[in-house]
Amino acid sequence: MTVVSLSPFKLANHKEPPHADPLHPMTAIIFPQVSTYSYGQVLQSSLKVNWRIEDILNGDRRIDFTKRFMPETLARVNDIPFLSSYEKLKLNQIRGNSYLHIFSLVEECIVPTVVDHVRHLGSSDWVAVQALLHFAEEEGKHIRLFRGFAEEFEQGFGSRCETIGPVHEIADLVLQHHPLSVILMILYVEWMTQRHYLESVRDNYLETLDVQFCSLLRHHWLEEAQHTALDTLMVEQVAADLDEAGIAAGIEDFFKLIKFLNRGLMAQVQLDLESLVRATDRAYTEAERQAIQAVQERAYRWTFIGSGLVHNHFVKTFSSVSPANCDRLMAVARTHSYAADWGSTADGENGA
Ligand SMILES: [Fe+2]
Ligand SMILES: [Fe+2]
Repeated sequence: MTVVSLSPFKLANHKEPPHADPLHPMTAIIFPQVSTYSYGQVLQSSLKVNWRIEDILNGDRRIDFTKRFMPETLARVNDIPFLSSYEKLKLNQIRGNSYLHIFSLVEECIVPTVVDHVRHLGSSDWVAVQALLHFAEEEGKHIRLFRGFAEEFEQGFGSRCETIGPVHEIADLVLQHHPLSVILMILYVEWMTQRHYLESVRDNYLETLDVQFCSLLRHHWLEEAQHTALDTLMVEQVAADLDEAGIAAGIEDFFKLIKFLNRGLMAQVQLDLESLVRATDRAYTEAERQAIQAVQERAYRWTFIGSGLVHNHFVKTFSSVSPANCDRLMAVARTHSYAADWGSTADGENGA
């Protein structure tokens, strides 16, 4: 799999934010914990639903390349009317591959963030330490799972697909943002994974998607449900250690981070277009290319940004940290919506 540098899409004028170090708080504001999550309960739940990579990728079950991988609510290939059924299938599968890549990229940001938070906790709460280390271990497993799928994709797809990268450079750029902004980003992404499975896969009787991809999304959803609780606790703890200026800096950087992610997604759309040309061996006209790009840009924005920003639980946590910025959050979410889905929110509980 060829990776393409994201460097042209780096944030212009981005510099190290003048944020406070949560380890050395300034005059902290009193930030109450609004969630009812507890590290002990989350740890118990996570141990109950824990799975092994071999449960999913075991050599017997293979990706079925005659099937679509991604639900249409995320892939949006049917909204490109001039594509044949075969071309829609290929574009859908290209979206499946980029989904694997983008999630493993985000998870490379999660592991060091969680480990850093464990360092901040020190020895004050060993249940919290165990829950967080288990969280980081699960994300390491998810990265291996996504990469395992990506390898199988590369072997079976039939032509070259490119993805944004190098992953570690993008992850490093993300992690240069304010700690509060990074944890807020992780929180919305993890609520987003809940939504993707619950709304688009679990009760999707209209589409016959590849069984292996459905299994991947289901298993990811099972463990991510616990991560959302831990993310919420981390957001609350980081916010509690910041003063008003620190929170303002963190929120400002969160919106910068969304712009940065959006630039990466738009770069991925361009790469997908070239992958589609190779996969279908068809030279699309300029008008056709623009039409594919327009639909896919909206689809990517909704899949990886909008569907998370408007999640009820994310909005609730965000508004508890910075009520003054809720309107701004909704305005940003609106620009990352796929029109038909605007205003749709979800609870995303897994009920496990
Ligand atoms: Fe994950
Ligand atoms: Fe996670």
